[in-house]
Amino acid sequence: MSATIDPAQLQSRIDALGAIGRGADGGIYRLVYTPAWIAARDLVEDWMHAGGLTTWTDAAGNLIGRLEGSDAGPVVMTGSHIDAVPCGGAYDGALGVHASLAAVLALQAAHGRPRRSIDVVAICDEEGSRFRSDFLGARAITGELTPAELDRLIDADGITAAEAMAKVGLDPTRIGEARRDDVAAWLELHIEQGGTLEAEGIDLGVVHTITGHRIVRVTLEGRQDHAGTTPMDVRRDPMQAAAEIITRAIEIAREMGRPSVCTCGFLAAEPGAANVVPSTVQFTLDMRDAGATRLAALAGGVDRAIAEVSARHGVTATIAEAVERTPVPLSADLQSLLARHASEAGFSHTSMPSMAGHDTEVMVERWPAAMIFVPSRDGRSHTPAEFTPVEQALPGIQVLAAALQELAY
Ligand code: HGY
Ligand code: MN
Ligand code: MN
Repeated sequence: MSATIDPAQLQSRIDALGAIGRGADGGIYRLVYTPAWIAARDLVEDWMHAGGLTTWTDAAGNLIGRLEGSDAGPVVMTGSHIDAVPCGGAYDGALGVHASLAAVLALQAAHGRPRRSIDVVAICDEEGSRFRSDFLGARAITGELTPAELDRLIDADGITAAEAMAKVGLDPTRIGEARRDDVAAWLELHIEQGGTLEAEGIDLGVVHTITGHRIVRVTLEGRQDHAGTTPMDVRRDPMQAAAEIITRAIEIAREMGRPSVCTCGFLAAEPGAANVVPSTVQFTLDMRDAGATRLAALAGGVDRAIAEVSARHGVTATIAEAVERTPVPLSADLQSLLARHASEAGFSHTSMPSMAGHDTEVMVERWPAAMIFVPSRDGRSHTPAEFTPVEQALPGIQVLAAALQELAY
């Protein structure tokens, strides 16, 4: 008997969680360790309790709901993240938490107690939007996070991750206690956040590789001057240089063709007045490609553009590496297991890369890990327009349940 997922309950939970942190602009604001994040975690924990799961919060603030197994020994873990990018959507991360909870509760209803315990995890922070630290929650689970890093990470208001944790009752000095050594496998369902599945009318994707990813924070220092009295030919204007570098970086990605991408999502000038040639300009460049050689070529081209343009404008460039990750292949055995269950259920499916980063790329460093994608309306994500019709989420959730059943029962 296959596990039965209730679409009405799934939709009502997507709506309820999606209402938490909703701003006037329709976007979701749910940064880790903020009141909205606490409310979201509490709501998910209520659903876990209602389903009879044993719950606890680990030292990082990851919420775990366990369906106890009959055997001791390694557990099967599944879930996704409950934080969101600023002005984010209701499906990125959240749908994976809903899917894992719905799948595990459906398995419990249909098959009772599993042999292996199954842990549903609402990961506290994946985006790194508050502290510019990607995968904070997953890296705590794999044991990579240290108290020193939590003291170093700082948000836009000058609050460290350690201080923010303490404010919500967590002890950052005990972060090492979040490390898990009892995990047999990790499965994550996630919205595709791209347009392939929808465009090709495919029910679900099995991810083979998570993209390589490099984010740099570039600071250009020039000479602050009067906007009116300073002739163009004597300026050392960091904004002119930034504009050229950003344009060149995006051109390089365009010239390389899909799937190479380059994005400038943040730009700030000091002192920031209209009639002042800035002294300093800071901006980010987010570069990605699913191939390591291509990513290196993209990154190399961007570095050369920064050096050449800065020299020509007489400004000093400082490059801070915020994220540097090579492409991550996911577990072949788990990919085959997911594809087999999709075929057996009669769902169309395809093996595909992810151009978004995911907690799974951290989990696979320690234990077998794989991902299921479900379609995204118009391929949109990291926007309030993010949407997946429940009926398009169900095939992925059914396959997730079947895979969990094979791994845990
Ligand atoms: O940026 C990403 O790809 C992910 O949403 N953190
Ligand atoms: Mn995201
Ligand atoms: Mn995500």
